[in-house]
Amino acid sequence: MVETGLAYAKLNISLDIVSKMDDGYHNMKMVMQSINLCDEITVECVSGSGLKIDSGLPYLPGDERNIASKAALAYYAHTGISGFETKIKIEKRIPVCAGLGGGSADGACVLRLLDRIFQTNLGADVLEEIGRGVGSDVPFCIAGGTRLAEGRGDVLADLAPIPDCYVVICKPPFSCSTPELFGRIRCEKIRARPDTDGIVAALAAGDLNGVARRMYNVFEDVLPRGSRDVNAIKYALNDHGALGAAMTGSGPAVFGLFIDEGEARAAFAHLADRYKDTFIAETTGKIMV
Ligand code: C5P
Repeated sequence: MVETGLAYAKLNISLDIVSKMDDGYHNMKMVMQSINLCDEITVECVSGSGLKIDSGLPYLPGDERNIASKAALAYYAHTGISGFETKIKIEKRIPVCAGLGGGSADGACVLRLLDRIFQTNLGADVLEEIGRGVGSDVPFCIAGGTRLAEGRGDVLADLAPIPDCYVVICKPPFSCSTPELFGRIRCEKIRARPDTDGIVAALAAGDLNGVARRMYNVFEDVLPRGSRDVNAIKYALNDHGALGAAMTGSGPAVFGLFIDEGEARAAFAHLADRYKDTFIAETTGKIMV
């Protein structure tokens, strides 16, 4: 039994941190958006036991530390299905440690594929529930689209889909530790915040300009020294006609939204000359109800 599927990257159109919870996690308010930059995942189940991950990449863990294997184990624990060896092949295209949710997207895709292989028809709500135990961004990645994410990032509400647009994404060559960045946040000291309610209203009005103008990510304020590229990339995107630009997740990838394909391609060409992890993509809608 084998199934193949696509694991779509996510963007944080906005990322705000409302408060710190007693368990150390943070209460978030984010507008999340899936895009067609994706990994390709193949899951094969044969009778036997154990789990193998093959990504061909030495820096991705091939064992239980990988979100894809955590997701498979969570699926089996939830359904009680046993007696199978699970082989997961990951064709990686989403850059890792970028803030694009690549690992979470892979985990969510594994849940969708196992649901198909074993014909358990769990539906998005139950898959999101299983994903919640795997990672904070996994529930969003089950169905993707345009959604408001609160709580740990796992309390989801549908929003009006973002108007079709081009996205140029550029990851500078360093990575930020997510727990370390959360550790630098003092909620009462956050100076600039995204206008999330304004973004939600602009989405409802189909006003892409209104969305792009209000984008912001509070992690941009607490980046470590030497993260100058983040602002340089934002300026380059804006100079090439982006309607707005922001960092995604805990970074360091930065994205810009474009209505004009020619401008998006020019921005891509300019940044691709300087940064190897540069991509052009389009927004995608929900893939599960
Ligand atoms: O849930 P996930 O494993 O993706 O979270 C990774 C780390 O990010 C957590 O260990 C925690 O330090 C931090 N985090 C947080 N608040 C959130 C989500 C993640 O503090 N809402």
